[in-house]
Amino acid sequence: MFAKEVYVARRRTLLEKMSQTAPHGSRGIALFIGNVEAAAQYKDNAYKFRQDSSWLYLFGLDIPRYAAVIDLDTAEEMIFADDVEIGDIIWMGPQPSVSSLAAEVGVSRTAPYASLDAVVAKAVSQGRKVHFLPPSRWYNTMKTASLLGIPDAAVAGSSSVNLTKALISMRLVKEACEIEQLDNAGSLGQEMHTVARNNVRLGRIEQEVVGAMEGATLAKGWGVSFPTILTQHGETLHNHLHDKVIEPGKLMVIDAGAENNMHYASDFTRTLPTGGKFTTRQREIYQIVCDANEYGFSLTRPGITYREVHLAVARQMLEGLKALDLVRGDVDEMVNLGIAGLFQPHGLGHNMGLDVHDMEDLGENLVGYDPDQTRSTQLGLGSLRMARRLVPGNVITDEPGIYFIPALIDKWKAEGTDKGFVNYARLESYYDFGGIRLEDDVLVTADGARRTGPDRLPIQPDDVEASMSI
Ligand code: GLY
Ligand code: MN
Repeated sequence: MFAKEVYVARRRTLLEKMSQTAPHGSRGIALFIGNVEAAAQYKDNAYKFRQDSSWLYLFGLDIPRYAAVIDLDTAEEMIFADDVEIGDIIWMGPQPSVSSLAAEVGVSRTAPYASLDAVVAKAVSQGRKVHFLPPSRWYNTMKTASLLGIPDAAVAGSSSVNLTKALISMRLVKEACEIEQLDNAGSLGQEMHTVARNNVRLGRIEQEVVGAMEGATLAKGWGVSFPTILTQHGETLHNHLHDKVIEPGKLMVIDAGAENNMHYASDFTRTLPTGGKFTTRQREIYQIVCDANEYGFSLTRPGITYREVHLAVARQMLEGLKALDLVRGDVDEMVNLGIAGLFQPHGLGHNMGLDVHDMEDLGENLVGYDPDQTRSTQLGLGSLRMARRLVPGNVITDEPGIYFIPALIDKWKAEGTDKGFVNYARLESYYDFGGIRLEDDVLVTADGARRTGPDRLPIQPDDVEASMSI
């Protein structure tokens, strides 16, 4: 956990922000429900516990079955949880009391978990507003429904936009103590990728590489920040199968990150030539993506929107594809028509922090879009999860990619989506190419940006080949 003062200051800031949304006396209460254990097959064989990220941010306690209420009118805070009993101690050993744990995060009042019902019921009976964040897990949804006496289907739509926006505005800007954690998660992620690179050898099964790299992060952190993508079919963006033998002449997309013990994430992608050397055709496309990654980083600074960065990168990638005669015509027109989406049907990046797609549970558009921005419906740009005007403290990914997805190419060709800009005769020879994605994690600083993690993974094609020959 961070120092007590970190959590106290965060909750104070949240309270101040909420105070601006309604007059004193009519602000209501804010309800926070931490995660509970979730049975994998049966109650005593649960999934590895992962605390709710907003709970972690505000209350720090990485323990199941905790909840809290902040009275937005009186500023009173109370944590609800149960002290262990002898039955728990037999299986779990002695545990600190709830009150001592609450004191560690600056909360002085505690009560049994079951008394949350009466506290919320009282607020409801008094006609007070109960603010809560959109729950992502089933238990939290059901618990909220039961506390408020509303149908579970009504919970998501009844969450508090003001509370959600207030928290997003805080979590979007990482504090110094968080940046330290993100660098640590970056270090673990870079170690994972280094282990992976040293294990990508012809004849091995992909799963062996995944096991080795995930073991590296488990040895020093909480685990992976999302299910590892390691595939010779990189044209499938999130391919989670690892059952193939590593064959010569393929491109291996490895998109993987670590979650450290404080639950901060990293997310890196590298694409390796399976035999250690790129073919000429692979190198041509790889260089376009590599340049796009560098260009995206070079543009990243306070004041620019990440939407602008996405579009500038898309433009540069189209220039590269045009030089290879895969597309033809005016590049600006292609950008406007969204032709880049055929090759990169995803956004340039997303926020990162306590979640690898930070705060996506709170609402993609609230998190990633400024009030004056509208999300595009174009393929690719429409998947941009972070479009906002950047400010110092934002942490985002820079992850351009080029993919040759036969089904998508066929569909565009059949439907004329490309408006004549795509050279299908040449493109069809790339059907067996696969895909390339190259991803770094980037912190926006006062005057520019820097990449997180201490040891940037090799990215220039010569450096990648050299690193694979060791
Ligand atoms: N690295 C996985 C993703 O960004 O979706
Ligand atoms: Mn990513």
